Amino acid sequence: MHTPSSNLVGWGYYAPERVVTNDDLAQVMDTSDEWIRTRSGIRERRYASDGVHTSTMSIAAAQQALEKANLSADDLDLILISSSSPDYLTPPVSSQVQHGLGASCGAMQIVVGCTGFVYALVTAQQFIATGAYQTILVVGAELISRWLNFEDRSTAVLFGDGAGAVILQATEEKCGVLGHVLGSDGAGAEHIIVPAGGIAEPPSAENVAAGRTSIKMNGREVFKFATRVMGRALMEALSQAQLSPDDIDLFIPHQANARIIEYAAQQLNLPMDKVVVNVDRYGNTSAASVPLALCEALDAGRVRPGDTLALVAFGAGLTWAAAIFQLGLHIPALQTTTEEEIFSA
Ligand SMILES: CC(C)(COP(=O)(O)OP(=O)(O)OC[C@H]1O[C@@H](n2cnc3c(N)ncnc32)[C@H](O)[C@@H]1OP(=O)(O)O)[C@@H](O)C(=O)NCCC(=O)NCCS
Repeated sequence: MHTPSSNLVGWGYYAPERVVTNDDLAQVMDTSDEWIRTRSGIRERRYASDGVHTSTMSIAAAQQALEKANLSADDLDLILISSSSPDYLTPPVSSQVQHGLGASCGAMQIVVGCTGFVYALVTAQQFIATGAYQTILVVGAELISRWLNFEDRSTAVLFGDGAGAVILQATEEKCGVLGHVLGSDGAGAEHIIVPAGGIAEPPSAENVAAGRTSIKMNGREVFKFATRVMGRALMEALSQAQLSPDDIDLFIPHQANARIIEYAAQQLNLPMDKVVVNVDRYGNTSAASVPLALCEALDAGRVRPGDTLALVAFGAGLTWAAAIFQLGLHIPALQTTTEEEIFSA
């Protein structure tokens, strides 16, 4: 029997309205636009306003994705939300999103740091390939600004908030995830960590005051790790898909640092016009970064039906993941976008 593939039929994203520039940060900490731009490529990021949560951002992105796909929440068979900054430690944010959308299917939160969306996408594909489910919503959403320690300039300047969503639907056509790598090396756990607030070190007045309930990162170690794993993971995923870097139409890397993205593109010999970069406008939005970049590329008409996308991410764990994702030939929402663009040009 033919194994069903996954077609990407809908997408949507939520970027908070509040723009925080490097100069804004320089007002509250000892940093400068020049330092942040040259080290990371970031110019500005978005911070969610009071009253906005990871669940609300996810719901907004998911509603857009449903609309694009011409589907309703009732059509969903499963909801996967990748987030490391859920509204609560428990309940899982996935159930809040399920309820908020008015869906009645199962829902699960996938916590794999910045790598979470690629893990979730690959997981969704497995449920479709087995025939268990037909239509799956996959979201990456993070609200990290409320977790930042503004006294730790080396980490605080890098992160931002946002959410991106896609809908995968079973199809007989050969598309979806053609090759993937999921990696983890817990030996590097301390390099990106929120030390307190969990079971190992429950929250207390002391650890809150010491900034231990905020995210801490060893930037240099993460930089070395990222440049080591990104190219290798992508080559492995490409070889599984029996493709080469020349077959990639668009490279959509995790948006943590422009220098890391450029290094990965060089390793694969990919020209920068085949690479999506929006880290300058959003900073590192963790699990939201790959879907935000993917959705913007889809909206901008940078992606055509049948295109082969290379997604790669790395982050806390330490973890990494790569997926070679081929779009189907029949994506009504993409055709509409493209026609609209042609007529408005
Ligand atoms: C964080 C990062 C931008 C720092 O760049 P770097 O070139 O490694 O800079 P360093 O950490 O060596 O710091 C250099 C100096 O700048 C200072 N500095 C750190 N943050 C600063 C800031 N925001 N503004 C001004 N100076 C800063 C440091 O104190 C250090 O000063 P010193 O040499 O006097 O001690 C870089 O390491 C990085 O991007 N790492 C990867 C992070 C990442 O991808 N995370 C993703 C997790 S999913």
